[in-house]
Amino acid sequence: MQLAFPADFIWGVATSAYQIEGAAQEDGRGPSIWDTFSHTPGKTTNGDTGDIACDHYHRYAEDVACMRQMGVGAYRFSCAWPRVQPDGQGAWNEKGWDFYARLLDSLDAAGIAAHATLYHWDLPQALEDLGGWRNRDTCRRFADYAAEFVRRFGKRIASIATHNEPWCTAFLGHQYGKFAPGNTDRKEAYLVAHHLLLSHGLAMQAMRAEQATAALGIVLNQSPCYPANRDSEADRTATRLADAFMNRWFMDPLFRGAYPADGVRHLGADAPAVEAGDMDIIGLPMDFLGINYYTRSFCSAEGGIEAPARLGVTDMGWEVYPEGLTDHLVRIARDYTPPPIYITENGAASDDVLNGGTVHDPLRVNYLRWHLDALAQARARDVDLRGYFAWSLLDNYEWDSGYAKRFGLVHVDYATQQRTLKDSALWYRGFILGQRAAA
Ligand code: NOJ
Repeated sequence: MQLAFPADFIWGVATSAYQIEGAAQEDGRGPSIWDTFSHTPGKTTNGDTGDIACDHYHRYAEDVACMRQMGVGAYRFSCAWPRVQPDGQGAWNEKGWDFYARLLDSLDAAGIAAHATLYHWDLPQALEDLGGWRNRDTCRRFADYAAEFVRRFGKRIASIATHNEPWCTAFLGHQYGKFAPGNTDRKEAYLVAHHLLLSHGLAMQAMRAEQATAALGIVLNQSPCYPANRDSEADRTATRLADAFMNRWFMDPLFRGAYPADGVRHLGADAPAVEAGDMDIIGLPMDFLGINYYTRSFCSAEGGIEAPARLGVTDMGWEVYPEGLTDHLVRIARDYTPPPIYITENGAASDDVLNGGTVHDPLRVNYLRWHLDALAQARARDVDLRGYFAWSLLDNYEWDSGYAKRFGLVHVDYATQQRTLKDSALWYRGFILGQRAAA
């Protein structure tokens, strides 16, 4: 199929602060919950931490040069809150802000548009010590930080997302204990999810009050849910409930003013208390919606049934299922009235090996090709899609999996910090050039 995207479609790559920056104790950065978590024995593969990561804090210019080589027009990164405000309230850390100013200078010089995320999971530990996202007051602190970000950089940034994948923060961090802060309490997780949404709304308000010119929005991970057996009523029921918690739990409050009733019923006493006015704040209009898509959810009443994985699985064990992206985008456009959509993450982990200056990663090339095709199909079905960011620019710190999983289009040799463009980076470059030539 001929890929069809308009000339102004945004082609980018994405990263996040804790996964690439390193320099965890440099220039006044305060500790975050991920420093604490990754340094706790037994929490991450090989005990890996983000202390050094890709050393991007010192090598950002080289990384921008990689992007330039790839021909991307946009870069999505996150600002580390504890770097710019070590305690999460009170004094700003000028040296932290300076780092992002240097990064923006470098992107400007390369003609690459900056797309920022304010929260990609690195809460200042000082705020965690005061209750973290369990504490409603953290929402206020987050809005103050968002306003300051706009005062400093608002004019230099194309888009600002408040949160990245609040589902992961709430549930992997507070119900399943896989991510920082590592708690396992369902009721707490739903309270945290509510506070994340509320903090998003308060931040939107605060940034609008600063006359932000950047497009403002949020980034959600979404995973369409399919019944393992379509003929089984029990599987269909399990699928609907999975969808309520995976997808609608965030989409409904943002776009329909309420949590999904079926999910609320299921939670009973664990459902979050919603104060008067919260939903109005959560539902404030946004300029864009960011969707991160990796795979689908395959649901059965008994659990544990594997998806057929016709196109294979990635190194994360995730099924490659591009049509899920088309299906879900069409569904979102039908069921909600979303603002323009960006795919803010999409990519694959593979077991890549550097050999004689090259890295052959055919799985990732296919993954990208198939998902871009899925995007073209969603566009053909009238979904208002404006851009695509491949995850990730670099191999990096994959959270609890440490450095064992490689998502980069650019290979990182962690012993030498040498960067090497993989076949997928060269393929993406060719694809982008082809799009420009066709435009
Ligand atoms: C989504 C997250 O935003 C990102 O941090 C992570 O590395 C990728 N998924 C891959 O798991």
